[in-house]
Amino acid sequence: MSSSIYITLLTLAIWFLSNTQHTSAQSCWRETRCSDIKQPAYPGEWDANNFAPDSRNVTPLAVYSLQSGRKIATWPAAIPISSNTSGVYLDFGKEVGGIITIKFSVSSVTKDNSSEGGTLGLAFSEAKNWVGYTSDSSNGNYARPDGAVYSTFSQTGNFTYVMPTEYLRGGFRYLTLFLLGDGTYITIHNVTLELSFQPTWSNLRAYQGYFHSNDDLLNKIWYSGGYTLQLNAIFPTTGRTWPPPGITWQNDVTLGPGNTINVDGAKRDRTVWPGDMGVAGPASFYSTGDLESIKNSLQSLYDGWVWSTAIFWQTVKCFGKRYLSYVRYSEHQLLFSYLIPDRWTMIGLYNYALFSGDVEFVKMQWERHILAMNLILAQVDLVVGLVNISFYPNDWGRFKSYGYLASAQMLAYHTLTTGATLAKWVGDTTGLNRLWLHVAARLKETINIKLWDAKIGAFKDNYGSYDTGLYPQDGNSLAILLGVVKGTEKQGQAISSWLTANWRAIGPESPELPGEVSPFITSFEIQAHLLARQPQRALDLIRTSWGWYLNNENGTQSTMIEGYLIDGTFGYRHDAGYEEVYSYTSHAHGWSTGPVTALTEHTLGLSVTGLGGQAIRFAPQLGDLKDVQGGFVTKFGKCHAKLRLNETTDCILAELEVPKEAITEVILLPGKCRPGRSSPIQLNGREVEMGKLNVLEGPGNAKLYSMTLPGGKHTFEY
Ligand SMILES: *[C@@H]1O[C@H](CO)[C@@H](O)[C@H](O)[C@H]1NC(C)=O
Ligand SMILES: *[C@@H]1O[C@H](CO)[C@@H](O)[C@H](O)[C@H]1NC(C)=O
Ligand SMILES: *[C@@H]1O[C@H](CO)[C@@H](O)[C@H](O)[C@H]1NC(C)=O
Ligand SMILES: *[C@@H]1O[C@H](CO)[C@@H](O)[C@H](O)[C@H]1NC(C)=O
Ligand SMILES: *[C@@H]1O[C@H](CO)[C@@H](O)[C@H](O)[C@H]1NC(C)=O
Ligand SMILES: *[C@@H]1O[C@H](CO)[C@@H](O)[C@H](O)[C@H]1NC(C)=O
Ligand SMILES: *[C@@H]1O[C@H](CO)[C@@H](O)[C@H](O)[C@H]1NC(C)=O
Repeated sequence: MSSSIYITLLTLAIWFLSNTQHTSAQSCWRETRCSDIKQPAYPGEWDANNFAPDSRNVTPLAVYSLQSGRKIATWPAAIPISSNTSGVYLDFGKEVGGIITIKFSVSSVTKDNSSEGGTLGLAFSEAKNWVGYTSDSSNGNYARPDGAVYSTFSQTGNFTYVMPTEYLRGGFRYLTLFLLGDGTYITIHNVTLELSFQPTWSNLRAYQGYFHSNDDLLNKIWYSGGYTLQLNAIFPTTGRTWPPPGITWQNDVTLGPGNTINVDGAKRDRTVWPGDMGVAGPASFYSTGDLESIKNSLQSLYDGWVWSTAIFWQTVKCFGKRYLSYVRYSEHQLLFSYLIPDRWTMIGLYNYALFSGDVEFVKMQWERHILAMNLILAQVDLVVGLVNISFYPNDWGRFKSYGYLASAQMLAYHTLTTGATLAKWVGDTTGLNRLWLHVAARLKETINIKLWDAKIGAFKDNYGSYDTGLYPQDGNSLAILLGVVKGTEKQGQAISSWLTANWRAIGPESPELPGEVSPFITSFEIQAHLLARQPQRALDLIRTSWGWYLNNENGTQSTMIEGYLIDGTFGYRHDAGYEEVYSYTSHAHGWSTGPVTALTEHTLGLSVTGLGGQAIRFAPQLGDLKDVQGGFVTKFGKCHAKLRLNETTDCILAELEVPKEAITEVILLPGKCRPGRSSPIQLNGREVEMGKLNVLEGPGNAKLYSMTLPGGKHTFEY
């Protein structure tokens, strides 16, 4: 190659590189490398329900007087502020998060001894009822409010204030602007927010999944789940500082690898927690399709177990198989914690592999996964036959969890069975699959003998001396969801029915956290009702609980809240860990996004059941809906379905399209549509021979029909 051609090519390459870097830097977060996800997979009218802004830079919608609450102006507007009593608050119209830039001019400024001039304060809030001079609580120090950040100036003229990156505010809807002291006059000319979430996406609306039905509320709820997960996908160096800083808040901790990571909440904790893997993982896949954030969170969780085989055996020796403390590192801090490898992390690895087909990633964690499973096995009390979790007191809701907690049994069971599947996927030849399934079967038997109360029709919360007479929402919902009980059988029906006894006006009151509604546990409950083929219960609960929050004038009206009190107060766990700080509640919490999975996997009925999408299940349950459609994308391609009830004929018409590689299990519950025909189902315009249908018993003598079809396009009438 001649040197001149070489130079030309080099120039072209540099030109090309600089161009692509330029375009990507425009809309991904700062210097983040952009993901390949750039366009929505299913553009359509439903995009109107998508809360994600179409730009990474957004402005507020309206300005309100801080004192009177009256609307002053719609945006854009020049806003004068002369003292703290003329402060304003700006409404962004939905939950947002990132770095604020303010352009303002100062026409008069007073210098006094305490300050070298004027001071403009910025305070943030997710909920409308915490708007004020102090931001809602996020720093983790309950005794000290988050306060405000300040821009100071000592002369007249024009100024631009950019919030320092460590003050990044990850979740808020309202921004309050006020001046300290008197005698200073300023005019706000512009406020812009550089959105920091979903850092690798150049197009924040590029969802890979969609959902649309004739119920607008459900549609919006589904999209508020997707948007919540976007706010929880953050750049890994913008996690919450721990322990809390001396003043305000600080979000500059490194949480894990990569360019995007899934955390529990937008405002707080901005921390990777195992419990989020159970709900946020599947919901991310079905809505945004962002598995990269989940993968990096899993990596961070597995890396957090800083141990070796030697540490493991030493621990087992020291604590008589009963105790493990481990040290968790991150780049900027060292945390000491008494945590065991969490079952949600291990189940999360299975979910991630199921949706992505990324077996290589599983292989990277495999040794640690086996070690963690050994610890679960070591927790099995050989006399009782249940797992004793007394050395692991942390719980989502209970002050302290101990003994043979029902939810822990269900989780252990599912960790074992999913572990067995993972063992097959990684090609394990040492018999782990058989061993873990064997232990799971024994555990399931014991759970049913020792914890089931046939008189109540529900599982007890604990066993033996630990039994407090409580019947839990979590243990019972998880029993069905995690496969200990089959939802369509008698026991599953009893649980589904028992769960409704906890229902209040705006959601189920959790017996294990009295007075409160947990959308985290209710995310499991709605899926349990659907697995019990009680679709109406699930839809009712989604509407009364998530629907109540989405329409609440004081909420974000765009995301899913962490939890709330049954009287509608935002004050989750105020008396159970959050030390009476009501504003600490997170209003964008990924663990509450269960309706996304429930509506896609069960209402629409489309779910991934085989590695990477090589097997798909189509088992719709419309409940009171008449029109439902939706889809997602697997590594083999698009999977989508569309259903319509013809109210004249009572027939449901369904169209399904999945990749050619995807074996599809179809499960339908025919109605009154086809009286007198030879078959309850028509497939691609032809009656399906009865011999080709498997009959499954549904609840209340209902007959479910199943068949296995090759991938491709199919239509059904039933
Ligand atoms: C400002 O500081 C000066 C010198 O320290 C002092 O004499 C004066 O009283 C102070 N004024 C106020 C308002 O605090
Ligand atoms: C300050 O900015 C405003 C709005 O951009 C402009 O109208 C004004 O002329 C500027 N003032 C000075 C002193 O530059
Ligand atoms: C508002 O300014 C007045 C006068 O300087 C001061 O006394 C008061 O504490 C300020 N209020 C706030 C919330 O900063
Ligand atoms: C505010 O700033 C944004 C981003 O720089 C810009 O697009 C917009 O035009 C500005 N608005 C006003 C009123 O200056
Ligand atoms: C459960 O484990 C705890 C902590 O290891 C232990 O103190 C307790 O005795 C165990 N419970 C039973 C019934 O063995
Ligand atoms: C919203 O907050 C205001 C002020 O605290 C309160 O008066 C109102 O009842 C709240 N609305 C709802 C729906 O809770
Ligand atoms: C319902 O079915 C009837 C009878 O096949 C047909 O005439 C009608 O057009 C269908 N209605 C809709 C909305 O598809």
